[in-house]
Amino acid sequence: MVTVPVNASKVYDIIIGSGLLADAAAYLSPIVKGGAVALVSDDRVYPLYGEALRHTLQDSGIKVHSFIFPNGEASKNTDTYIALLNFLASRAMTRNDTVVALGGGVTGDMAGFAAATYMRGINFVQMPTTLLAAVDSSVGGKTAIDLQAGKNLAGAFYQPNLVLCDTRTFATLDDSSFADGTAEIIKHGILAGGKLLKLLYTPLKAHLETVIQYNVMIKRDIVEADEREHGRRQLLNLGHTIGHAVEHLSGFQLTHGQAVAIG
Ligand code: GLY
Repeated sequence: MVTVPVNASKVYDIIIGSGLLADAAAYLSPIVKGGAVALVSDDRVYPLYGEALRHTLQDSGIKVHSFIFPNGEASKNTDTYIALLNFLASRAMTRNDTVVALGGGVTGDMAGFAAATYMRGINFVQMPTTLLAAVDSSVGGKTAIDLQAGKNLAGAFYQPNLVLCDTRTFATLDDSSFADGTAEIIKHGILAGGKLLKLLYTPLKAHLETVIQYNVMIKRDIVEADEREHGRRQLLNLGHTIGHAVEHLSGFQLTHGQAVAIG
């Protein structure tokens, strides 16, 4: 297990390791502090990991409300976002409570935007279950939903209170989903060179924890220097300008990772 500290507008840890979900209650307790958790996940991830996570948290005395939505980018829209806000209100969630995003980029982006805007901001924890979310979208505080006019057009910079990355969850990714994540890793390797770029010449799965660690350290350094993307953070958009256009024009038949790789 490794911890990467982040010192941005919030100070928090990114914790990476195998099997961390089983100890989620211990990691979450200092944030939840006796409050409730809204566990946000999609209908593909929730059956795999959400139900077990809910039991783990409940067994530790944490009240859990589960919000489950249909898997896929098409769900990252105003309808699901408003439904999530109404769900938080219907469960009487307050700023003492915590939104937990369990899943990939769609889940983290949308749950993060809901956490940023519900009651002007409540606690937020990212639990990425895809490689792409672990190395990119769960880190750095970008949250958003898509509008009809384009991807990520409504959003907020909102840092999480914690990122808990259980690498064991990547075991259920198919090769194509795993490759989506490697596109963002290659992006960070190209941007920073050094130890991560060297590791890219070796089989990634042999040292995944280290690859994720080096990767998020590169992103962390850029985010700490330019959290709101006035300058240096624009480097992280390498491949994304063309990539977003390709992704959009494919009608989202291409995945984000494939589009970034093309970009
Ligand atoms: N995915 C690019 C960024 O977080 O800035």
